[in-house]
Amino acid sequence: MGNGIAQMAALAGYTVVMCDITSDMLEVGMGEIERSLGKLLAKERITPSQREAALENLATTTALPDAADADLVVEAVPEKLDLKKRVFAELDALCGGDAILATNTSAISISSIASAAGKPERVVGTHFFGPVPLVGLCEIIGGLLTSKDTFDMADAPVPAFELLDIAKYNRLTVQTSRGCPHHCEFCASSVVLTGRYKQKPIAKVLNEMERIQAIWARPFIEFADDNTFVDHAYWRELLPALRGKDLRWFAETDLSVADDARLLDLMRETGCAQVLVGLESPAETGLAGLELRNDWKLRRFPHYRDAIRTIQSHGITVNGCFVLGLDGHTSDVFDQVIAFVRETGLYEVQITVQTPFPGTPLYERLEREGRLLEAANWKTCTLFDVNFRPRPMTVDQLRQGFRRLAVELYNEEFTNWRRANFRKFRREAHA
Ligand SMILES: NC(=O)c1ccc[n+]([C@@H]2O[C@H](COP(=O)([O-])OP(=O)(O)OC[C@H]3O[C@@H](n4cnc5c(N)ncnc54)[C@H](O)[C@@H]3O)[C@@H](O)[C@H]2O)c1
Ligand code: SF4
Repeated sequence: MGNGIAQMAALAGYTVVMCDITSDMLEVGMGEIERSLGKLLAKERITPSQREAALENLATTTALPDAADADLVVEAVPEKLDLKKRVFAELDALCGGDAILATNTSAISISSIASAAGKPERVVGTHFFGPVPLVGLCEIIGGLLTSKDTFDMADAPVPAFELLDIAKYNRLTVQTSRGCPHHCEFCASSVVLTGRYKQKPIAKVLNEMERIQAIWARPFIEFADDNTFVDHAYWRELLPALRGKDLRWFAETDLSVADDARLLDLMRETGCAQVLVGLESPAETGLAGLELRNDWKLRRFPHYRDAIRTIQSHGITVNGCFVLGLDGHTSDVFDQVIAFVRETGLYEVQITVQTPFPGTPLYERLEREGRLLEAANWKTCTLFDVNFRPRPMTVDQLRQGFRRLAVELYNEEFTNWRRANFRKFRREAHA
């Protein structure tokens, strides 16, 4: 990974020092870079002088103190928290106060790694799209303490959508915001991305949509936010600019969108096809204490049914998500999901098993309560495996009930019923 990042930065004209623990590793790394540059040259994706310049921009070292003068350090050591923390503690002591320290972790919390740095506010996460030297796209992720100066969504570069082979995609994503004010106990959004809800300036979002339409005239767009419609005023301003653009789009939101008829009209007019909503439970049981700050979903529960009908009456389908195995869920919860779907006419349903991801408040609580089946085992964090002891169900009841529910929900007959029911509801609403 480190080779690819070094090569990309060197090709872009930056002076790069590649650091590893032995000269042998560096030799292997440089060999990879030379091979990759050779291939790019053979395919005429770079010129001979670009190849030469990239190689001139590259130096190697086995001494981390050589990073002392860097403006940006990208760490790409193996995926081990202790190792990454050690490297960040050293970098923090070595590098100048203005240097940005980036971790290339795939799955460790940015905030945990940043905690090793004396100035965690200058630590960000980077996620490169592969193969790095070919794609050239990088997502920047802030930790809980990353300062606004280190990462502001206004500074997010416009993705180079034109590099994608558009025939291979059925949707493209645009991110308008990060984080979510609800802070659900099981959700990694506030832990991994940001503890504070932030939005991209509207003009930047519109610019990204234009870039997409330059390569795909009638695109399907997914607003890849944790919770898109937190700020209704922002969307009331943005959506009118999408009128007449021939878009279809999808977003994830909380149910507050159902309170705003004007917003729902705008959503429909501009091509909203579906919203995905975390309902979490088909009954009040399980909702108390789900969010860390308040019981927003519990208070909303009496209005779930009306809200779903309101959204669907606008021709926007609702994909309702349920998390099975919340504290308080009994083995009745599976039948309750089926009954809820029949009663509300939900068009689409998504079910997952409650999953304590390491680093989340849920994980910490279940660890304190001695309810994790296997600590920090990422392999069971699939959203479909049971990796904790539920209450009051048993592990087996949750496993088997979940499997039975999936078969019942997604069989052809029930799926067709959900589709037909939505069409009938729409006809009746407009009769
Ligand atoms: N999309 C992405 O952004 C993406 C993709 C793949 C991997 N990753 C992440 O990148 C990181 C590296 O993954 P990889 O597959 O390249 O690992 P790797 O094991 O292939 O390479 C790690 C390199 O780090 C070196 N290293 C170990 N300790 C070091 C130290 N103290 N100082 C300097 N160098 C040291 C190793 O010698 C090795 O060359 C991981 O955190 C991984 O999760 C991210
Ligand atoms: S509402 Fe959804 S996005 Fe927001 S914290 Fe809860 S689970 Fe995460």
